[in-house]
Amino acid sequence: MSAREVQPERDDPAMHAAAARALDLIGDGARVGLGSGRTASVFVRMLGARVRGGLRVSGVPASGATAALAHAAGIPLVPLSENDRLDITVDGADEVAPNLDLLKGHGGALVRERIVAGASKRLVILVGAEKQVRRLGERFPVPVEVIPFAVGPVTRAIKAAGLRPGVRMDAAGRRGLVNENGNLTLDCALPAPLADAHAARALEALLLAIPGVVDTGLFLGMAERVLVGHADGRVDALLRDGVVG
Ligand code: A5P
Repeated sequence: MSAREVQPERDDPAMHAAAARALDLIGDGARVGLGSGRTASVFVRMLGARVRGGLRVSGVPASGATAALAHAAGIPLVPLSENDRLDITVDGADEVAPNLDLLKGHGGALVRERIVAGASKRLVILVGAEKQVRRLGERFPVPVEVIPFAVGPVTRAIKAAGLRPGVRMDAAGRRGLVNENGNLTLDCALPAPLADAHAARALEALLLAIPGVVDTGLFLGMAERVLVGHADGRVDALLRDGVVG
């Protein structure tokens, strides 16, 4: 892991505003899932400051970079437990649809992010306003994590479904980027953004049914709330249908 990967973002006021609001949701003694990416890193750094001020929490990181950052910030790290769910996970996202379905995974940690979120009672997502979309797939391709042995047939199957998959490359652009799970990522361009929640679920089911696919960046029906930060410090709190503020 390079030092650059654990370098926190320092200057984005929208990220700071959203992360500060998320801190209000962390009670003393909470077990907290820690997502990955730039926005989650801002939250981890701010949570670390609270811990150094006396707040007692423990954290489960979704990536090695987040683990290093949380450790440096003073947050005690624990493994996932068979017995207790985490109280809350705080993470970022690449796109947020109006119903709070998400597209995630452009940081390369989607499998562990889903595991940590799935082990939590609540998933809270922090984004800037530019990540709100009308339809998933407007800004980014859909990441699909694949076991390297299967990359050929998975690519063929995804192309047959009308998407354009491309292996995510390493920084030098010479070979496929192998992630912390030893897997590759196919970034799959859609012919058009996903029309609605049904289309998103149909695509997820299609992709997950391909042998060799581990997971996708479609996080559907998982977020309890999305905190949208703005550059002027305002934060909009979006709640999933049925969730009371
Ligand atoms: C990591 O795999 C992702 O799911 C991130 O949560 C997502 O890409 C958002 O990252 P940023 O906060 O860096 O934009």
